[in-house]
Amino acid sequence: MKMLTVIGLITLLLSQPGWAQAGSVPGDDKALFIADLLQRMTIEEKIGQLRLNCIGQQMPQETFLEEAALGQVGGLFYVTGRSDLRAFQDAALRSRLKIPLFFAYDVIHGHRTLFPIGLGLASTWDVDAVALSARIAAKEASADGLDMVFSPMVDITRDPRWGRMSEGLGEDTYMASRYAQVMVNALQGTKLGAVDSVMASAKHFALYGAAEGGRDYNSVDMSLPKMYQDYLPPYRSAVNAGVGAMMLTYVAINGTPATSNTWLIHDLLRKQWDFKGLTISDFDAVNELVTHGVARDGREAALRAIKAGVNMSMTDTLYRKELPGLLKSGDVSQEEIDDAVRAVLGAKYDLGLFADPYLRIGAAHDDPPDNNAEDRLHRAQAREVARKSLVLLKNRANVLPLKKDGVVAVVGALAKSRLDILGTWSSIGSPVQAVSVYDGIANALGDPSRLLYARGADITDDQSVLTYLNQPGANPSDVEVDPRPAHQMIEEAVKVAEQAEIVVAVVGESRGMSYEGASRASLGLPGYQSELIKALKATGKPLVLVLMNGRPLSVGKEQDAADAVLETWYSGTEGGNAIADVLFGDYNPSGKLPVSFPRSVGQIPMYYNHLNTSRPHLLENPRAVTSRYFDEAYGPLYPFGFGLSYTQFSLSDVTLTSKQLERSETLGASVVVKNTGQREGETVVQLYVRDVSASISRPIKELKGFQKVMLKPGEEKVIQFSLNENDLKFYDAQLKHAAESGEFRVLIGLDSQNVKERSFELL
Ligand code: NOJ
Repeated sequence: MKMLTVIGLITLLLSQPGWAQAGSVPGDDKALFIADLLQRMTIEEKIGQLRLNCIGQQMPQETFLEEAALGQVGGLFYVTGRSDLRAFQDAALRSRLKIPLFFAYDVIHGHRTLFPIGLGLASTWDVDAVALSARIAAKEASADGLDMVFSPMVDITRDPRWGRMSEGLGEDTYMASRYAQVMVNALQGTKLGAVDSVMASAKHFALYGAAEGGRDYNSVDMSLPKMYQDYLPPYRSAVNAGVGAMMLTYVAINGTPATSNTWLIHDLLRKQWDFKGLTISDFDAVNELVTHGVARDGREAALRAIKAGVNMSMTDTLYRKELPGLLKSGDVSQEEIDDAVRAVLGAKYDLGLFADPYLRIGAAHDDPPDNNAEDRLHRAQAREVARKSLVLLKNRANVLPLKKDGVVAVVGALAKSRLDILGTWSSIGSPVQAVSVYDGIANALGDPSRLLYARGADITDDQSVLTYLNQPGANPSDVEVDPRPAHQMIEEAVKVAEQAEIVVAVVGESRGMSYEGASRASLGLPGYQSELIKALKATGKPLVLVLMNGRPLSVGKEQDAADAVLETWYSGTEGGNAIADVLFGDYNPSGKLPVSFPRSVGQIPMYYNHLNTSRPHLLENPRAVTSRYFDEAYGPLYPFGFGLSYTQFSLSDVTLTSKQLERSETLGASVVVKNTGQREGETVVQLYVRDVSASISRPIKELKGFQKVMLKPGEEKVIQFSLNENDLKFYDAQLKHAAESGEFRVLIGLDSQNVKERSFELL
């Protein structure tokens, strides 16, 4: 071991003269290198590595620097920028063993350049576009000195009351699993130790999106088959893609918080899934084990977390305070601590930080002269991905696309907001560099005399909601209100609308309404926005709604009033230009919903892949007593997979290569899709499968494949899918993952409701 270290040291002295004088030098054998380092570490140094902290009241900058210089902290988050980070790394390298820090940040949908929020990315149904956004996020984050991002967020949710639905990849397991895989690959690059790679930390393991009632941090109670079948696969997909770290959720699963859940971390993640990376608690979550009521005090909280397998404690106080005593008393073994330390050192090794602690920080003379310089952004790619994320939900009499020579009235408090369009978790994206919807329309029109504006309505006028949204430090909302009374603002908007040929109303939620802790009890448009729409409709002018929101909204009345509806989520730095591209037809919309839109809150949970029940409600043959709400229309307002285009497509019947599938074989399923309209456009052909009869009831359909296809007017293409036994497997009541013989249906459509189907038999 000593020999290796000496050889390594010589190599490093030759190649990295900067820091090499006394640090540990990595050889090619990771295990050996870490074992050597571990045996030289004191217990305080070991525990230090288990702490991931940020600067704040609990830990002022000076304290952090002092502790880093003593080797008593392992990583830093919430600081970005090379020159700022360099000072922290310098401090760590003054420590006895010179173990570098790693630097982490919440980079969820872009870093400097913001891409659409998770729901928007998912709406592209384009894995390459999603991968591109993650690759650029990795490039920008690493260019700012960061080593790790707390992303991707892969929590499946079927409850839009939950504000964090905005960050995730929708309601579908197959889709989120595919995105999870490409995002991890794109973030981590071809080699984790590369200068433009960052370690992905998938989150929030597990089931955070299933919190009861959509109320953030609430508990989850779920059967194991449902967990395995619907909620766990996206995390597993991240693991299979080689994700470096996994962040644990705050919530309790069947009574046991993830942070103290030995089954979840040891049995499932480590043993069953063979995860070799780093586990990280969520912010303050070790402490919160006391609040959960599973630990009497901080000592017990630290004990439970380390025993369950939580390697790093985020915003740590308790590991540092309690682990030495717990080790002394024998409650925690040296091996348990060493295992956790090994995971942290392993992550640093893989990130290339032992070879060069300044790998991503670089040398001072290479620092960008201006961190916010325009040329550090990726505007073209952001616009491209944002355009793909927009979902056209309604277009009566082809009111869209708009002509560029008319007078357009833009209305709505969100229209001019450069902050909201970035979405929450917008890393260090700057609103100053963002393009609002108003800006985008102005750019497209060119002529300012043909663009009119009125605010029309505030996002909310409810003082308690405003106080919540604008509370310092907690919610990044900054909602401004106009002091004028609501009716006066609406009257002004009506006057403006009357002078225009078309009205574009930008309505929805402020970004802080779709954020951590921001659960809603209602899903309507907040404030006086509905009244505004009613008044605008009464003018008789063609009315286009541009929705900006982080969750499905129940906007049935508003969509009836509108001629066209475009769902834009929060579309990022170039959002306004992308939206204008679609409004004026410079881009033909191709996005499809990754979530179902309920008509009202009472229908939640609303998801397309539900079970059939004993008495399904059949629109074509309604019976008296069926599984539905009698005071609400049946089904979603907009179904999963739905989205219109400026052209039309037709789909042929489904052709199968056989009526029977042998277990070792593959079944081909194909359709012909044709562009029957007047312009070139893209659509998404979606393949669903239904297991007609099995040992447990199976969903009415489940997505198993999708392909995005571009067609010229009149052009048609054969779209081919293939299915094999694996695609038909599910977890039965005993958690056996197997495909059961019998009848299956293949359903192919351009959304989840209008499908063509064919049956086959699995032998
Ligand atoms: C709490 C959030 O739950 C998590 O998603 C985030 O990564 C951490 N805070 C750090 O900001």
